Amino acid sequence: MSENMNLEKKYYEKHNGKNVIEKIKVLFAEDYSGHDYFHSERVYKNAMYLAEKITCNREIVALASLLHDVDDSKLFSTTNNQNARQIIKEIDISNDLIEKVILIINNISFKGTGKTIPDSIEGKIVQDADRLDAIGAIGIARAFAYGGNHNRHIFNPNEAPLSDLTEATYRENNGTTINHFYEKLLLLKDLMNTDVAKEIAENRTKFMKVYLEQFMREWNGEA
Ligand code: ADP
Ligand code: NI
Repeated sequence: MSENMNLEKKYYEKHNGKNVIEKIKVLFAEDYSGHDYFHSERVYKNAMYLAEKITCNREIVALASLLHDVDDSKLFSTTNNQNARQIIKEIDISNDLIEKVILIINNISFKGTGKTIPDSIEGKIVQDADRLDAIGAIGIARAFAYGGNHNRHIFNPNEAPLSDLTEATYRENNGTTINHFYEKLLLLKDLMNTDVAKEIAENRTKFMKVYLEQFMREWNGEA
């Protein structure tokens, strides 16, 4: 069994008798906006894939990726990372490590600008892993799920995509889901911190561009 699988066992199953995964499943049970439990699981898998190829503390990467959305202000009204701290305190790890995980969680969100870059390599990996889940085939599915959940049209040719969004204008933006590709998803490949993620992102971005071209052909009544 690879080291990766051992870590997977450690966090997927039980840790000191407490099941981290079960707690995350409960927190995301009612999400239909593209942030369900499987998003956390995929970000964990992406992060561990990157962590295999990059020198880093894999325990921090594992925990931060699994817990990265448990206090996201879009989904929860917790303060001071209450959910993450509640889950992590039952794991036998040092306070220093806990604070490193919390710092990463607080620094990875896109928030319209993509300008916050975590200082640590573990944070950079988890941020890349989260962004990889927003692009490619999964990213397309999540964008339309989010759009439907937020009453957005799929496309309107009379509405142009916005540029230079700030956190406030990004969150207030009521635009179409196709515009979201131009406002965020196609830009993510250039925001990747690690070369490994950048390469994956380039492939996924090509796929999204092919998808968008086909979408426009069908929209215009072409074959
Ligand atoms: P983060 O959690 O990194 O701050 P977001 O909340 O902006 O990122 O995005 C989370 C997911 O929701 C992503 O897959 C993203 O593409 C999708 N999403 C966010 N805003 C929109 C939107 N306006 N239209 C479609 N999908 C969106
Ligand atoms: Ni996320």
